[in-house]
Amino acid sequence: MQRIQFPDHLIWGAATAAFQIEGAADLDGKAPSIWDRFTARRGRILDGTDASVACDHYRRYREDLDLMAALGLGAYRFSISWPRVISSPARRANRLGLDFYDRLVDGLLARGIRPFATLYHWDLPWFEQQRGGWESRDTVWRFADYAEAVARALGDRVKHWVTINEPLTIATAGYVSGDHAPGRRHPLRAFRVAHHLLLAHGAGLQRLRAHVADAAVGPALNLFPVLPCRRSDVRLAERIDALANRLFADPILAGRYPTSLRRLLTVYRRTLRPGDLALIGQPVDFVGVNHYSHLIVERNWLPWLGFRLARSLDPNARHTDMDWQIEPRSFLDTLTWLRERYGNPPVYITENGAAFVDRVESDGSVRDPQRRDYLEGYLFMLHRAMDAGSDVRGYFVWSLLDNFEWSLGLSKRFGLIHVDYRSLRRTPKLSARWYADVCRTGGFDL
Ligand code: NOJ
Repeated sequence: MQRIQFPDHLIWGAATAAFQIEGAADLDGKAPSIWDRFTARRGRILDGTDASVACDHYRRYREDLDLMAALGLGAYRFSISWPRVISSPARRANRLGLDFYDRLVDGLLARGIRPFATLYHWDLPWFEQQRGGWESRDTVWRFADYAEAVARALGDRVKHWVTINEPLTIATAGYVSGDHAPGRRHPLRAFRVAHHLLLAHGAGLQRLRAHVADAAVGPALNLFPVLPCRRSDVRLAERIDALANRLFADPILAGRYPTSLRRLLTVYRRTLRPGDLALIGQPVDFVGVNHYSHLIVERNWLPWLGFRLARSLDPNARHTDMDWQIEPRSFLDTLTWLRERYGNPPVYITENGAAFVDRVESDGSVRDPQRRDYLEGYLFMLHRAMDAGSDVRGYFVWSLLDNFEWSLGLSKRFGLIHVDYRSLRRTPKLSARWYADVCRTGGFDL
C-alpha cells in the first residue's frame, strides 16, 4: 500500500452552480434566465426535465450546509444567480435574492467552510439576452455592475471569486452546436461572444478588486489536452488546441491572442478594440481549472470546421456515463502545460469529477466504487503535478450533489451525494465517505 499525502495548505472542497441546484425559479423576485427559457422549449433537454425544482437547494440549503460540514469540506464553490440578484433592467439589486447568498455565506463561515463564489455560471438574465446577451459589448459593463452589487453585499466575507465559468463552453455549446442556452447556431458569432466573455472577466475582476479588500480573483477555464486520433490529425489537433485552450488562456495569462489565430482574428477587427487585451490580461490571483478528460479529434470533410470528436482507438479505454474517457494522465499533462507555458500560476482545481449510473440499494446505500476510483486516479496525478512544482492551492469535486446537467437534464449524476428527485432526499454515496477521509487526513492510501 502506498500513502498519497498532500501538503497541509491544499484546500479540499466541492462545487455546484446556482441553476443546477437551486430550483425556486421565480421565488423572491427572481427574474427568468436564458436557461429557464431554454429548458421550457420542447426537445431541448434530453430527458424532458427542467430545473424549476432541481435539488430545491434554495429552500434546503441548511440541510446541504450540514452535509458539507459532515463531509469535512474546507471550502465550497457555488455560483450566484445573476437574475436573482438583479431582477430587472431598472433595479440595482434585489435584496431578497442577495439575502439568500448572505445566509448561505454565513452558514458556511459558521461551519468553518471557506466560500468560493462564481459570478457567472451560465444563467444570464433573460432581459439581458433580449438586449443582445453576450453578442453585445454592453453586456460586459452590466456584468461589471452586477459584480459590484454582489461584491458590496458579500465582499466582507467572501474573499475567493471566480469571474466566468468555462467561457469555451458558453461560446461553443451556446453559439456553435446550440445545445446550450441561448441555443444559437452561428459559429461566426461565437468568437465575438468569447471576446466579450473575456472582457467581462477583466471588467468583473477590476470591480471585485475595487470593492473587496484582499480579494483573490480568477477565471474557471476548462482546459484539456487535444489529442489527434491518427498521426495525420496532428496539425488539426494543434489548431483545435489553439481554439479551445489558448484562445482563453493566452489573453488572460499572457495578454495576447494566440499568434496562430491572427488570420482568423482579422475578421473581428470591429470586435477587438484598443485597450481590450490590457483589461483582459490584468494579473489574476489564480487560474481555476475545470478538468474531466481530454478531447480526441479527427478530420472530417463535411461540417464547416473540418473535424469531429472521436473516441479513443484503445479497446481498453474506459468511459464515464458522459462517455468521457477516464484518463488521469491527461490531468497531469494539463497541469504541466499550464505550469510550463504560463510561468506556474497559482491554481485551484475548480472542478473534477465523474458521472456514473448510481442507484439507491435496498439497504439505503449508494455504492459508487467507480467514482472513488476515478477520483483516486486523478488525485494521484494531481499529487505528481504538485511534486513536480505545480502551485495548486485547492481541489473541488464536481459535484457536491447530483444535479441538473444542462441539456442532459437530471439524467446524469455527478454528485458525492445522491439526490432522489421525487422525495428530494439526499444520500451520501460511498465516494462521499471516502472523500470525507481525504478531507480529514489530507490524503489516501492507494
Ligand atoms: C462543467 C460545468 O461547469 C458544470 O456546470 C457541469 O455540470 C460539469 N462541467 C459537468 O459537465
